[in-house]
Amino acid sequence: MRNEQETSGLVLRAAPSRGLAGEVEVPGDKSVSHRAVMLGALAIGTTRVSGLLEAADVLRTVQAMAALGARLERHSAQDGSGAGVWHIDGVGVRGWRQPEEAIDFGNSGTGVRLTAGLVATTPVKVIFTGDESLSKRPMTRIVEPLGRFGARIDTAPGGTLPMRISGAAEPVPVEYELPVPSAQVKSAVLLAGLATPGTTTVIEPVASRDHTERMLKAFGADIAEEVDEQGVRRIHVTGMKELSAQEIVVPGDPSSAAFPLAAAILCADSRVLVQNVLLNPTRTGLIETLHEMGAEIRILNPRQSGGEIVGDLLAETSGLRGITVPGGRAPSMIDEYPILAVLAAFAQGTTRMEGLAELRVKECDRLAVTAQALAACGVTVRTGEDWLEVDGSGGKAVPGGAVIDSHHDHRIAMSFLVLGLAAQQPVTVRGAEMIATSFPGFTQLMRSLGADITEAAGAA
Ligand code: S3P
Repeated sequence: MRNEQETSGLVLRAAPSRGLAGEVEVPGDKSVSHRAVMLGALAIGTTRVSGLLEAADVLRTVQAMAALGARLERHSAQDGSGAGVWHIDGVGVRGWRQPEEAIDFGNSGTGVRLTAGLVATTPVKVIFTGDESLSKRPMTRIVEPLGRFGARIDTAPGGTLPMRISGAAEPVPVEYELPVPSAQVKSAVLLAGLATPGTTTVIEPVASRDHTERMLKAFGADIAEEVDEQGVRRIHVTGMKELSAQEIVVPGDPSSAAFPLAAAILCADSRVLVQNVLLNPTRTGLIETLHEMGAEIRILNPRQSGGEIVGDLLAETSGLRGITVPGGRAPSMIDEYPILAVLAAFAQGTTRMEGLAELRVKECDRLAVTAQALAACGVTVRTGEDWLEVDGSGGKAVPGGAVIDSHHDHRIAMSFLVLGLAAQQPVTVRGAEMIATSFPGFTQLMRSLGADITEAAGAA
């Protein structure tokens, strides 16, 4: 089934802008939102989630959890703001209901891979489908470890969707060392461990985002971890313990905040404050990189909220210098490379980004598409199997003037609209409807700051 967002063909055009100014909040963090819905759907009692990202990807997870028997209802916040508070009544460990139909995850890799983990150790049969982009993404990375629990999993040839999982009736615990630095794979294994008697262990050589671990602790799961001298983490989950419902407040998504912040850095005479952003250290690689590049970006008012660090981010127009971004930093900024590459296009000198192999299996091949789109905008780039080099303009506006296809990728769409705001000529983005998968209200928010982004009627 295709939904409207995949076929509406929205075309947006970003034209040179200056003087971006204002204070904004971005929608809730996507990773935290998926996990809040999933753990709420599993826990005993009523979990309440405010600040949930009500975007296509997370709403797919809401539908998936409903198909598996959880009750999820959107209520309006008491403060009259119209904001949603989601009430989620969970099914308990091994309580999933047999879904009546295939579950369509749209564009969402996180939704499909984490849900696969949730159902792999309960005797239900679930068929997973997705949109054109998700149907090309590798599932073998979760099929392999989930099979070790005793689940039977069939995919399309090549290890892609559609995928059918027959969950194990008598799952056995697993010790699994991650072959790729992927929070989705780590999370799938940990979630499968929740309905498995005994202790499941994930060995993580390179740290990836740890929201699953933090949230499992908050929900009362039996989870422990240790880190050795080399920084290798071992995370243990002992299964069959019920989770208990929680109150969750989802902070703003740093991966979404990156776009207005980048626009402020690139557009002349700009100053933008993004409030209430998640600053979990496994997600702040872009801020670290921007500091090294000389950007004026400051963290204000850092504070604890619901087991996570949050803060406000203030960015101002800045000159940037090219640097080498080490591969070891990639997991903490994996979704930020398209916008970093756009920023690098305006720097003094060359920026080299290493360790990018995982970019090739995101919503599109982000390494290839980012490089092609930059070249189309008049920027000189070089790529290898897992690296990208961008020659900066030394602070001058890059030519722009191109029509860029999103390749079903929300972050490609937003990154090149930001480029258009600081280029000599406007940039047009086709397939901009994909922005709704992670950042509803992006265009309005950017306009409220003074960005010239308009709908290019009929340009499709
Ligand atoms: C996510 C993990 C990352 C990231 C994705 C969200 C998550 O993927 O790219 O947008 O919520 O766990 P990988 O874990 O596959 O790198």
